[in-house]
Amino acid sequence: MAYDFNRILDRRNTHSYKWDQSERLFGSEDILPLWVADMDFESPPAIKEALVARASQGSYGYTIRTEGYVNAITGWFARRHGWAIDPKWLTDTPGIVPALSLAVELFSEPNGQVILQSPVYYPFYDVIRMNGRETAISPLVINNGRYEMDYDNLEQLMQGGAKLMLLCSPHNPGGRVWEREELERLGELCLKYGVIVVSDEIHCDVVLAGHKHIPFASLSEQISDLTLTTLAPTKTFNLPGLQSSFVAISNAELKRKFDYRLKALSLHMMHYFNIDAVTAAYNEGGEWLDEMLVYIKGNVDYAIEYLNEHLPQVKPMRPDGTYLLWIDCRGLGLDIAGLKDLMFNKAKVAFSEGSVFGTNGQGYLRVNLACPRSIVQEALERFCRAANAAT
Ligand SMILES: Cc1ncc(COP(=O)(O)O)c(C=O)c1O
Repeated sequence: MAYDFNRILDRRNTHSYKWDQSERLFGSEDILPLWVADMDFESPPAIKEALVARASQGSYGYTIRTEGYVNAITGWFARRHGWAIDPKWLTDTPGIVPALSLAVELFSEPNGQVILQSPVYYPFYDVIRMNGRETAISPLVINNGRYEMDYDNLEQLMQGGAKLMLLCSPHNPGGRVWEREELERLGELCLKYGVIVVSDEIHCDVVLAGHKHIPFASLSEQISDLTLTTLAPTKTFNLPGLQSSFVAISNAELKRKFDYRLKALSLHMMHYFNIDAVTAAYNEGGEWLDEMLVYIKGNVDYAIEYLNEHLPQVKPMRPDGTYLLWIDCRGLGLDIAGLKDLMFNKAKVAFSEGSVFGTNGQGYLRVNLACPRSIVQEALERFCRAANAAT
């Protein structure tokens, strides 16, 4: 491997959301954090070089989009995902969650129902509820140890009047990379009931060997016309602090409304570092990503084997993609407070507690595996030792 993913980065005292809040959030500085979804790896060297060069210019004025930036995006999606994005479809946004929130505000009615599939990335609930809408929750069902969509339930929600759906593809926290047939079935329902879909594909590049991400909007022109796809290099290359993201909207009317509102909020300007980082990421980060995916797969295999051997009461769900491991810990017989106590006070690790992803996430934990294997090892040793002592 050309890149050293085993190297420990000391991220403490770097204003890190993950590493510098353990005391405040979990009660102790000694806690090993494997929760919020950023990586403990350095980004590809080309991105660092581009950012250092940009920073060294010393004058940090307003910034425009470049043709090179747009070409880097469209080139990446054509090469990696076989998806031809027309540059006209692209709008930049300062993060994906703001784009989800705007879409909810624009494409659903006050008090209207917005579909999500639980358990899911918790801001999905926030952007629906905090915009004065209602969550129409379609629980995913577990079949052969993995999540599947419940089409009958989805159809009922659409018949009941839901006109907007937030799709998480690939799925966080379950790690599913939805297959073409699954997405097509969903797409048929959305076409039948005129449901607009915001397909959050932020995890689209973190797909493990044997799986393939299918952009929802690439299924057909009709499906593309009812879809807003939220995209970013931030999970892929560990850039979430740059808040670089964009939305692809082929439907000109939807895009016009989206852009208008973005401008009304004056969120349409991008920050100084965005262009260079994103361009370097998509033009030069492919090889790094390929190696990173092999490393993540190694972490997944390691973690699953370790848990099977040392704590067989818990059942990890093997992810198709993402660097997140979703573990069914109901076998430990602990409630939410008990699981938190086990993690934070006894094991001194912080994973994400499952009920925040939905009521059907209760009893689960989500572990972020985008870190050196020695950290995964240390965290799992701490957790299993404490769990075995406590139960
Ligand atoms: C599904 C999903 N969407 C969005 C985000 C965050 O996006 P942003 O930081 O650009 O708002 C995450 C981060 O974990 C995520 O998992």
